[in-house]
Amino acid sequence: HLCKTTQKLAIGKVSFQLKALSIFPSNFKCQIRGHRVHRVSRPQNFTDYESIKQQYSPQIPEYFNFAEDVLDVWAEKEKKGEKASNPAFWWVNDRKQEVRWSFEELGFHSRRLANVLSGACGLNQQDRVFLVLPRVPEWWLVNVACLRTGTVLLPGTSQLTARDILHRLQTSGARCVITDESLAPLLDAVASQCSSLQHKILVSPTKREGWKNFGDLVRNASSDHECVKTRSDDPMTIFFTSGTTGSPKMTQHSHSSYGIGLTVNGRYWLDLTERDVLWNTSDTGWAKSAWSSVYAPWIQGACVFIHHMPRFDSHTVLETLSSYPISTFCTAPTAYRMLVQEDMSSYNFSNLQHCLCAGEPINPEVMGKWRNATGLDIYEGYGQTETVLIAGTFKGMKIKAGAFGKASPEYDVQVVDEAGNVLPRGVEGNLGIRVKPHKPFSLFTEYTGDPDRTAECYVGDFYLTGDRGVMDEDDYLWFVGRADDVILSAGYRIGPFEVENALIEHQAVAESAVVSSPDPIRGEVVKAFVVLTAEYKSQDQDQLKKELQTYVKKVTAPYKYPRKIEFVEQLPKTVSGKIRRVELRNKEWGRS
Ligand SMILES: *[C@@H]1O[C@H](CO)[C@@H](O)[C@H](O)[C@H]1NC(C)=O
Ligand SMILES: *[C@@H]1O[C@H](CO)[C@@H](O)[C@H](O)[C@H]1NC(C)=O
Ligand SMILES: *[C@@H]1O[C@H](CO)[C@@H](O)[C@H](O)[C@H]1NC(C)=O
Ligand SMILES: *[C@@H]1O[C@H](CO)[C@@H](O)[C@H](O)[C@H]1NC(C)=O
Ligand SMILES: *[C@@H]1O[C@H](CO)[C@@H](O)[C@H](O)[C@H]1NC(C)=O
Repeated sequence: HLCKTTQKLAIGKVSFQLKALSIFPSNFKCQIRGHRVHRVSRPQNFTDYESIKQQYSPQIPEYFNFAEDVLDVWAEKEKKGEKASNPAFWWVNDRKQEVRWSFEELGFHSRRLANVLSGACGLNQQDRVFLVLPRVPEWWLVNVACLRTGTVLLPGTSQLTARDILHRLQTSGARCVITDESLAPLLDAVASQCSSLQHKILVSPTKREGWKNFGDLVRNASSDHECVKTRSDDPMTIFFTSGTTGSPKMTQHSHSSYGIGLTVNGRYWLDLTERDVLWNTSDTGWAKSAWSSVYAPWIQGACVFIHHMPRFDSHTVLETLSSYPISTFCTAPTAYRMLVQEDMSSYNFSNLQHCLCAGEPINPEVMGKWRNATGLDIYEGYGQTETVLIAGTFKGMKIKAGAFGKASPEYDVQVVDEAGNVLPRGVEGNLGIRVKPHKPFSLFTEYTGDPDRTAECYVGDFYLTGDRGVMDEDDYLWFVGRADDVILSAGYRIGPFEVENALIEHQAVAESAVVSSPDPIRGEVVKAFVVLTAEYKSQDQDQLKKELQTYVKKVTAPYKYPRKIEFVEQLPKTVSGKIRRVELRNKEWGRS
């Protein structure tokens, strides 16, 4: 009976993963090694998601500080031997260097840095600190030290230009910048135009004129530091988010909106406990690194695993999953698409228990291949910088491939029209979060300094996400596209994602992006940019185009088939790996 229902069987040690076994709830993992049976209970029973949703009612205290109220509490438990021995932070790079910190050690290092910020730099509570570093351990210390000093953290990506930096420093009025050698020259080029900037701290073994050295400062600092008192609604962090138009917006979050709000990510969606090790690879974009690499795992006492890869490399990722005890893995759909192109049978996935993706919806085809290789499903999540998890598929919940899942316990999510009226099931509209009579505490505070743009997000009783979707009869949410990704062709509305899902089912397609393209008769038509799999690269392209068109007509409604197809080597992506359809669309329409 066991053999029939197992999804995974490793001959030798005999290890079963009894995910499908009906006598156990699906959120139990059982392993049989020899004759011993371990049952590792998970913290929640997600089979009954509705009752969890009802029970979820976080209390927001007047004062809250993540460093003191969460991190230091885990450190205390560690000291008393009341916590599993997992590290809090585990960092490796491609030269096999490693850093591991317990919560106690994280506290020690971050308190010294806090003394630097408030001592040597003389920063006050609510002063702004601009941080641009690649994935080095210092990045996490700055995050925690800012919490301890009540300074507001402004993370930025390493790919910024001098102009971007100038804009960010001027609009934010940051008093301190922390970066490395690669960005320091750009900063020096613009620093004289930023009157509020007083401290430049360099993370590097070498020295630089006009800069303080991070290592020297920290080495000399005391580790005695008392965490400042912060109100739950005090500003904690500001992300610069770019829209399709205008300059980047300063999206502000409070201490509680992320520090408490991301419980829905850590506890419910990621299903983390203090025994888990979470690795999120999709991390070169800094905007949302807070989600997965700071708050969500540490709320649960889980270990944050980081591989400082110079660039995404499928082999390194699969090798890392095989050789480190990573239990929970999250990456972008685009990365899963690359991983399933590899021969996955030569890797060992026995440590993995839970796989997730966010950023974009995942293609059902990719999900199927991943399941075949690892025995695990991919659980989707959907959110944005302004929010915590908006919707997701939670463990134990039925997976509907291609759907995000249901609204997260934190939000009342509805599909609404332009005036904020709730639309019936099955009708496409704007994905909105109800904000009346109560605005959820885990929604961003505002676009700082831009009340007009803040106001534009709200219509009637809803905050509009800017994404289009549909809710089905079972409350599952289906993504259609960004509001401006939807294609209108000869009277039909076509979501790019459906067409991409159909294309990727064909063996020739590694990846595709579908956008609208001008057409003299139809106004606009569906155009697909296709990256071919290795074995199809040398085939006759005209014939392949016809074959793909016929294929799409067969697997989805024929009117959706791409009338135009262009083969490309790669697709334009954001730093966090999302396909930039807007770029392709602008090119099609001759816009810059
Ligand atoms: C989980 O919830 C389901 C549905 O309510 C219930 O049948 C099952 O017994 C629960 N399992 C546990 C371990 O509580
Ligand atoms: C750190 O301490 C050493 C020895 O006391 C001193 O020479 C050095 O200048 C200090 N460095 C900084 C950056 O304060
Ligand atoms: C992983 O990082 C990406 C990009 O920063 C983010 O979209 C995603 O939500 C993260 N995953 C988790 C589990 O938080
Ligand atoms: C896979 O990894 C697990 C855990 O690290 C180990 O126990 C097992 O022997 C490995 N299996 C193979 C086939 O190497
Ligand atoms: C998964 O494996 C089954 C059985 O070998 C096969 O029929 C199916 O096509 C595979 N699915 C994918 C998506 O590769």
